[in-house]
Amino acid sequence: MIKKMKTIFVKNYEEMSEKGYEIIKDVIETKEQPVISMTTGGSPRGLFTLLVEGVNNGLDISNTVMMNLDEYIGPKNAVYTVNTFMYENFYNKINTQPKEIFLINGEADNKEEEINRYKEVLNAYPRDVQVLGLGTNGHIGANEPGTPFDSTIFLAEHDDSTIESTMREYNIERDEAPTEMITLGFTEILEAEKVILLVSGKRKSEAVKNLLEGEVSTDCPATALRDKDNVIVIIDEEAASLLDEETKK
Ligand code: PGA
Repeated sequence: MIKKMKTIFVKNYEEMSEKGYEIIKDVIETKEQPVISMTTGGSPRGLFTLLVEGVNNGLDISNTVMMNLDEYIGPKNAVYTVNTFMYENFYNKINTQPKEIFLINGEADNKEEEINRYKEVLNAYPRDVQVLGLGTNGHIGANEPGTPFDSTIFLAEHDDSTIESTMREYNIERDEAPTEMITLGFTEILEAEKVILLVSGKRKSEAVKNLLEGEVSTDCPATALRDKDNVIVIIDEEAASLLDEETKK
């Protein structure tokens, strides 16, 4: 089996967050103009807490450009948007701001124009780091099962399992939950110098097994990352619980 991605096995969510933070901190401290593209949701919450502490204790982000992987289609200030998450969990909590903040506008009338606008941002700011979470169905961003591995930023429809995860994460009913998202495709995701995939919890164990031991197939989108040597997957014990011992070596 070809596997070039790096796997880091950790004990729990806290250790996963710490490892992720260490990598990002190092990039922020060593690059002249670090460009960090984040994800939102349950997986990176702990990492954001550490980033906030870091920045408020002197980690200098005045030259750092921050952006995001995706955005739900819906009102900008809805509880579930990437915009709301980023302000509530990061931008409103830090005492100095990054050099630039880019976000996709999920309430833009013309989605195609918005995609083109963000493409220009992506072209202008090659990412040093792209942080990702893993869907229970193996999705990456909103690249759901069936998405071609050469996808580029597009308007995606969510699978049912993704809608359920959003409802769970933001404590909302199905009729309030977004069903579409503008997402980076695999192409832009993998352009980052380092891609960090954070995976924690039993709920992700099946997807982790497919990611590391299953066939490389669009049925499990995350397998698009398996043979890429710029990808680092940080996996906690619960998420790794279905893996063969051999895989964890
Ligand atoms: P989560 O979602 O981080 O909220 O578990 C990950 C994902 O669905 O991409």
